[in-house]
Amino acid sequence: MSTTPTPPMLRTLTDNGIRVILADNPSRLNAYTRDMWAALPGLFREAEADPEVRVIVLRGAGTKAFSAGADISEFEGNRTGAEARRYDEINHEAFEAVGRATKPTIAMVYGYCFGGGCELAMCCDMRWVADDAVFSIPAAKLSIGYNPRWIRPMLSVVTAAKAKEMLFTGRRYGAAAAYDMGIANAVVPAAELEAETRKVALEMAANAPLSIRAAKEAVDEFAARPESPDFARLDRFVEACFESEDYAEGRRAFMEKRKPVFRGK
Ligand code: COA
Repeated sequence: MSTTPTPPMLRTLTDNGIRVILADNPSRLNAYTRDMWAALPGLFREAEADPEVRVIVLRGAGTKAFSAGADISEFEGNRTGAEARRYDEINHEAFEAVGRATKPTIAMVYGYCFGGGCELAMCCDMRWVADDAVFSIPAAKLSIGYNPRWIRPMLSVVTAAKAKEMLFTGRRYGAAAAYDMGIANAVVPAAELEAETRKVALEMAANAPLSIRAAKEAVDEFAARPESPDFARLDRFVEACFESEDYAEGRRAFMEKRKPVFRGK
């Protein structure tokens, strides 16, 4: 396993094709500062460019919080007046970077998952959740105008009625409610979260990257453009699978009764 310190307060670790991006601001429950939002797209570009990386996992340091959202302590300086719009742009670029990832993304959620942290988790493909997790988007409790661009990822996870309930009330939802709402793919005891997340990430990492890419592009395209999906574009991802060395390897491995070794080519 390799660990790279990545200022500011973000760290990356790579283990068996799994790139973990960790928010390390524990004294503020892993709240994201503006600099952390700004650094996130670069970390995603790195993960995308590294052929060894098959799955990206987002998490917070420790086991108390995925993230308590944006760091409110700096709002006076950088999220008021004209700065508020710039802040939102930087924040939005971070969410976009997660949403644009072509590799599978998993949010591994312990404890608090609030505001921008909740949005970040919803921008991931899936969420593995500890039984002590609490989700909330308390923007209305701070009179924050929730950027409309951030509603779309929410709506690919929860229904419109639930999105409205979350945003209108700012309520907190425990892990069981989050599972019922479709936020959590799985809820596991906190002590098992890391192992369970690793298990599912390794499962995906062992599969054919081009197959996963084709499926991810299709699901995301239908969410983004349900009325007019670009089938020609989606078909190209499927063709890439059939033309790949991995498809030949998949067939060979099946006949030889062994596990395939896929290379994403
Ligand atoms: N930004 C900055 N600091 C934060 C923070 C945030 N989003 N969330 C928590 N912190 C800090 C607290 O100020 C506190 O610091 P202190 O020890 O110096 O007083 C520390 O993290 C621990 O938080 P605390 O509130 O004492 O923990 P708790 O367990 O009682 O409550 C929360 C946890 C998440 C319910 C509560 O911290 C909270 O409501 N945070 C704000 C969440 C939010 O509104 N996020 C959306 C931002 S847009």
